[in-house]
Amino acid sequence: MSEPAMELPDRAPTVPTVRAWLTEATRVLASAGVRDARVAAEWLALSALEIDRAALYARLGEALPPRAAARLDAWLQRCVAREPVAYVIGRREFWSREFVVTRAVLIPRPETEHLIEAALECFPDGHRGRRLQVCDVGTGSGCLGVTLACEWPAAVVLATDVSAAALAVARVNAQRHGVAARMHWVRTVALQGLADEGFDLLVANPPYLSWAELREAEPELEWEPRVALDGGEDGLAVIRLLVADAPRVLRPSGWFLLEVGAGQAEAVLRLVQHAGARQWFLRQDLAGWPRVVAAQW
Ligand SMILES: C[S@@+](CC[C@H](N)C(=O)[O-])C[C@H]1O[C@@H](n2cnc3c(N)ncnc32)[C@H](O)[C@@H]1O
Repeated sequence: MSEPAMELPDRAPTVPTVRAWLTEATRVLASAGVRDARVAAEWLALSALEIDRAALYARLGEALPPRAAARLDAWLQRCVAREPVAYVIGRREFWSREFVVTRAVLIPRPETEHLIEAALECFPDGHRGRRLQVCDVGTGSGCLGVTLACEWPAAVVLATDVSAAALAVARVNAQRHGVAARMHWVRTVALQGLADEGFDLLVANPPYLSWAELREAEPELEWEPRVALDGGEDGLAVIRLLVADAPRVLRPSGWFLLEVGAGQAEAVLRLVQHAGARQWFLRQDLAGWPRVVAAQW
């Protein structure tokens, strides 16, 4: 007697091409309310495939390998739940370098790069062997302190944070970019415990959202550490602490560079003037908001 014939499906399950996956993922993300859904889908795909953007475009017509497809299914679900792509893939670019990010740290933002531009402007000879003493207050991922240490190979950078978990991530990034030997780490609140007149440059992107802004924020923000965002009722609580103590820790003619929220610059400038600054300037972001307040005492 012959064996009963096994039922075979009509066709093998279809494997999407990279292009088809991107199209579908973009649709799914957009309908979940994710901004820049296509860009997000591309970051997921190139990370799952472990290739760069140019290689992604070269492989649009290829079938998605099963391992990458499984990974992408899981990642897509996380993004649909509005977890930021940077946490899902574990990295974010800042000043053309890649930084590891975890939920212990704020995801570096493009507007924060204006602080780097301002720092390079304030110390145009900073890369020519001058041993600048820099303090990155509230270092988070380390994006500011590590970038400045990379740009100025002779600088020494002290990175501080209230969060021990953030400092651990920043150390990983300092090692990744080969500057750990010139960086020091302190867990402290604002500038407490820092030496008098110890620094040529204080750079900070402090938490500056007001409680009203936090209540209205996009769902992605809920994944980021509250301590990295919460600037108190009016958004200025940490900024006030920093402005009050900056003149003490800066060397004569040292610069204080602060990122502020959209619409906050005027209030911060008043604080800085009230604290006796003798020189200041503002730098705008690409949307035209004054984003960096720079001051010298
Ligand atoms: C807006 S995040 C900036 C992180 C990083 N510098 C960046 O630009 O992406 C603010 C950081 O300051 C830290 N922070 C919050 N309050 C602080 C305080 N009072 N003193 C020191 N650090 C503080 C947070 O833990 C967080 O890492």
